[in-house]
Amino acid sequence: LNNNFSTTTPNNNSIQNITVYGSGLMGAGIVQVAAQNGFKVTMVDIEQAFIEKGKKIIDASLSRIAKKQFKDDENSQKSFIETTWSNIKTETNSEKGAENTDLIIEAIVENLETKQNLFKKLDKISKPNTIFASNTSSLPISEISKITERQDKFAGLHFFNPVPQMKLVEIIKNDQTSEDTYQKLVDVTKRMKKTPVTCKDTPGYVSVRLAERGEATTEDIDTAMKLGAGMPMGPFELSDFVGLDTLKSIVDGWRKDGKIDAGLVAPIKKLDDLVKEGKLGRKSGAGFYTY
Ligand code: NAI
Repeated sequence: LNNNFSTTTPNNNSIQNITVYGSGLMGAGIVQVAAQNGFKVTMVDIEQAFIEKGKKIIDASLSRIAKKQFKDDENSQKSFIETTWSNIKTETNSEKGAENTDLIIEAIVENLETKQNLFKKLDKISKPNTIFASNTSSLPISEISKITERQDKFAGLHFFNPVPQMKLVEIIKNDQTSEDTYQKLVDVTKRMKKTPVTCKDTPGYVSVRLAERGEATTEDIDTAMKLGAGMPMGPFELSDFVGLDTLKSIVDGWRKDGKIDAGLVAPIKKLDDLVKEGKLGRKSGAGFYTY
């Protein structure tokens, strides 16, 4: 991909150029959705082999969407795919990826130090008005952002898996995230045809706690979130999809870390029991539900 994007920012000061770090499952999904909706996107990973993997993920997803959206119209399918690719370029040099971008979305490995190292480096070389966002699903945004000098231009932008299908995006503010940054992220999310919700910088599985306290059943919570909040999958279906062993290790990690309110990260009995029984979600045939 040799796309060259314009480096001039339009007068209205809204976000046009986005750089995504990490071309894994989440990064590739974010790149695709942004490019599909007209943003100029740079996909960065540390090695070309990982970039190629990301491109395959995007290719497969785009063909599926094209076939669904343009049924028997092969020309429209082709043009949809080509237009999307024309909005994407790739980069293995992380400094170069940050040049002239309005928004950086980080979707690299879930490790605090690795994320801090990346943002520390990017903070020094990015334009002063570039907004930084992390797609982390378990690390406190304030912990990642404190390494930078732009905490006002820093927030969590949490997409759900699979990104092209899931409508919800959580915007997580830290103490210093400015209103301007927040509004720009709301705007970007909507232009990606997603639904933003604002969250506090406290991790936790709210829906699981609700079920644990007997306030609603697993099925009812899933139904309410699908019909009421427009989520394509309920939180328990999603948990089964992501893998209960993965979720358990995230909660355990938070608890060990000791930085988060103990009540929020207390062991979740139901989750621990299911993992012990080998019920890890869809991949093992059973989890909260049986498949
Ligand atoms: P993944 O392991 O599929 O992809 C991570 C990619 O980041 C790899 O290709 C790796 O080579 C690359 N990478 C590592 N260090 C890098 C660096 N310094 N610069 C550029 N690229 C680098 O991971 P996945 O599943 O896509 O997750 C990424 C992030 O998204 C994590 O923070 C995770 O917690 C979060 N997340 C994951 C969800 C999921 O269901 N998998 C859901 C929501 C958020």
